[in-house]
This record gives sequence, structure tokens and C-alpha cells, in this order.
Amino acid sequence: MLNLLKHPLITHKLALMRKKETRIKDFRELLQEISGLMVYEITRDLPIKKVTVETPLGKCDTEELDTKIVLVPILRAGLGMVDGISKLLPGARIGHIGIYRDHKTLEPMTYFSKLPDNLNDSVVMILDPMLATGGSSTKAIQLLKDRGAGIIKLVCIIGAPEGISRIEKDHPDVQIYLAGMDKKLNDIGYIVPGLGDAGDRLFGTT
Ligand code: PRP
Ligand code: URA
Repeated sequence: MLNLLKHPLITHKLALMRKKETRIKDFRELLQEISGLMVYEITRDLPIKKVTVETPLGKCDTEELDTKIVLVPILRAGLGMVDGISKLLPGARIGHIGIYRDHKTLEPMTYFSKLPDNLNDSVVMILDPMLATGGSSTKAIQLLKDRGAGIIKLVCIIGAPEGISRIEKDHPDVQIYLAGMDKKLNDIGYIVPGLGDAGDRLFGTT
């Protein structure tokens, strides 16, 4: 299911990120900030349990989170979302999946995977700013399912209709979170208007 996070501050910061004049430092900061702002919504349905704590004035019946969390950035650009999210979820374990798109075929190629054990007892959040054809994300989701993950959330910044449809078709159980949804892909698989190549803008490569 798609969750489009329409919030003035998120949209404002995303507009700044999209601008072609925005350079590495600001681009990096904005990506972390938007990712952090998205945490409020992506954690909305996390399980909680009843607990009693002692305040300076007495007992308080309250609640705390009742799940482990694993963050899985897709290399490279997903790395740019980790700090913003893990600041708010400091106990989260972090796995990494390396996937790049073949420039000609747009097929996702997996080149690295290092994941925590026991994914089945955690909520797993995949991080990748761009959901274009959906090839990279669907491959990462399948890899995580094969490793035992049950509850998976896909957290992206900008999505194209093609990528959203692909995930909804391949993995209808996965919640998708986006800060922006754009019109289409161009003929080389880039999101239009999008923000260009997220990895290159984040790391200063071409
Ligand atoms: C980008 C982006 C996604 C993928 C999205 O990575 O960060 O992982 O493309 O495209 P898709 O939905 O069509 O699969 P890229 O392949 O450029 O790798 P990089 O981050 O290492 O540059
Ligand atoms: N990957 C990117 O970095 N940008 C796009 O627009 C599509 C895929």
C-alpha cells in the first residue's frame, strides 16, 4: 500500500533538494532531514506494549515500543537516509544491500549483502531515495524475504508510477512510503522531474 507523506515541511525540503543548484552539503543535509521527518509516519503502526515506569512523583502506566527494527539502506544512495532515521530509532540494527542498475538494461545487479540475523522478529525498513522502475526495490525485498523478513516497509523519497505499480504487484504486503510522487520515467529510466541521479548528487560522482 502507498503512503504519500504530504506535509508542508517535507515538500518544502524536497523542493530544495530537487533544485539543480543544490550542492552536495545541502543535498546531504536535506536528505537526512526529510528522512527524519518521515519517521513519524513510518512508525505509526509499530506495536507497543503496556509498561509501568517510575516518574519522580510516582508510578505511571504507559506504553513502549514492542518490536526490534532493522534499517536496510540500498547502496549507494540509501546511505544518505540512515542517520536521519537512526537518530530517532537509535536501537535499530543496520544491514546493507548493494544494488546498481545496469545502465543499458536497467536490470538491478546485486553486488553486496550483509544483514543482521533473525530478521523475522523485526520490522525491516528498506531505505532508497529513488523508486524508479522498482527493479532495485523489488529485488531487495525478495532478498530480505528469502532471509526470513516478515514485516517490510519500503521508505523512498520520490517514486514514479511505474515503480509503485511494480512493488504493489510483486509485494502487495509491503507498505511504501514516499515524500513525493512524480509523473513518469524518461527513456533512460530516470524519474521526471525527479532530482537527477541521487547517488551522484549525494557523493559527488558523475
Ligand atoms: C538508483 C537508486 C535506486 C535505483 C532506482 O541507484 O538509488 O537504487 O537507482 O531505480 P529502479 O527503481 O529503476 O531500480 P543506482 O542504480 O543509480 O545505483 P547507485 O546508487 O550505486 O548510483
Ligand atoms: N535513480 C536515480 O538516482 N534517479 C532516478 O531518477 C532514477 C533512478
